[in-house]
Amino acid sequence: MDSFVIQGGRRLTGRMQIEGAKNAALPILAATLLTDEPVILQNVPEHSDIRNMLGLLQSVGSETTMGGGEIKTHVTDSSRSVGQYDIVKTMRASISTLGPLLAKRGVAVISMPGGCSFGDRPIDLHLRGMEALGAKIAMRNGYITATCDRLQGATIFLGGPFGSTVLGTANVMSAAVLARGITTIESAACEPEIVDLATMLNGMGARIRGAGGPRITIEGVDQLGSVTHRIMPDRIIAGTYAIAAAITNGDVILDEFPWDSLLAAMDRLRTIGVHIHRVTPDPDPRCCTVQVTSERRLRATQITTQPHPGFATDLQAQFMALLCMAEGNSIINEKIYPERFLHVAELGRMGARITRHGSVCVVEGTGQLVGARVMASDLRASACLVLAGLAAQGETVVDRVYHLDRGYFKMEETLQRLGASIERVDAKEIPSDPNFELSATEIAAGAGTVIKQSPDC
Ligand code: EPU
Repeated sequence: MDSFVIQGGRRLTGRMQIEGAKNAALPILAATLLTDEPVILQNVPEHSDIRNMLGLLQSVGSETTMGGGEIKTHVTDSSRSVGQYDIVKTMRASISTLGPLLAKRGVAVISMPGGCSFGDRPIDLHLRGMEALGAKIAMRNGYITATCDRLQGATIFLGGPFGSTVLGTANVMSAAVLARGITTIESAACEPEIVDLATMLNGMGARIRGAGGPRITIEGVDQLGSVTHRIMPDRIIAGTYAIAAAITNGDVILDEFPWDSLLAAMDRLRTIGVHIHRVTPDPDPRCCTVQVTSERRLRATQITTQPHPGFATDLQAQFMALLCMAEGNSIINEKIYPERFLHVAELGRMGARITRHGSVCVVEGTGQLVGARVMASDLRASACLVLAGLAAQGETVVDRVYHLDRGYFKMEETLQRLGASIERVDAKEIPSDPNFELSATEIAAGAGTVIKQSPDC
């Protein structure tokens, strides 16, 4: 298994481009099952989750090719509609094939996605949506079996205890495009990835209005055609690299920055003292070029994660690393996934002072972190630990970076180009920790306590 070895304290400078969004590409890839025509997707990131989704599409009869950021898909065999456990267990987004398979073929059999490292992730709202469209749902041997003749448009409420559901909205919207009549989704997810999916589906001939707001109306059509669609830039990657610039007191220019999708995160960055400057508007009004700089001590703040356009839960962990470097106590309230705090204990190994009370964490900003060996446990927690390592004094080893590879394409190479000292190594090559024995003199001199951040960052 690979690890990252990071020498902290280097200021990041330079220019980079934000890649396509994994969380937009996954349900869009699933939606290619809605047509018998070829589909071309551009600006697709080459992450392991994308490769897993291509494996799933192939297993249900789609021919796929991938290269240079472009994916071509073409369904050539509609006889197999089973999403096997081996693929689904690696990636929860596999559930987004349920709606397209059901709507196009009248049957979908998908392994039930299990829990996740940061808590329960139910799919009751997805299933409720399919039933409202007329599907019959049964559970057998850990598989969801959904069947229908032709789906029938309906009014569907998708609000749950934590707000709406992003992939649930994608699933129901994708199914409803081939339903007979009109479907209205109330309390739909407003995330930009839903807008991207609706744009792609409308390009195939669907009739969707209102995506991006809480009420989406879909007028069903009999069939969909071919489309070439460019995937939106990844707002979470954009936010992560903006934080990388801020946490190293760096100066980084980010091209294809999805400005409109990141207003809540930018508001928090500015509140704590990070400079964000819109350089030039790009041709796409949703994107622009942004310069992120930070040369001064950061201030504490409060963050509450919320559905879009609120502060994204997928940036919570990365902000926590940044707030460790601020002055004063910050409060983070996680309202989407109350257990999404696997990074807290690992940050503690780096000298962070964080107290957790249920879904709320108090981060005592000390302006300092110290390198340590830490373990990645999920995608965004991994990004948090890499950011912490960039700012920490000394060497940080982040183990199990395969979690990171699910959502960041060769992150170490991007960071190297910006001036970071970060290497990918086989974990077996890293010597185990030396056996520290502090003498009485060293203890008296304070050895083993956290070290102040270097002036560079
Ligand atoms: N929920 C239910 N019932 C459901 C579905 C969800 O109660 O049927 C609850 C969840 O437990 C959670 C909340 O609703 O508390 C929101 O979950 P949602 O369904 O919106 O999450 P998701 O669609 O499964 C996507 C992203 C996640 C991101 C969430 C929230 C993809 C592939 N995944 O998941 O991304 O955290 O939306 O914004 O789009 C990540 O990229 O690291 C990641 C986890």
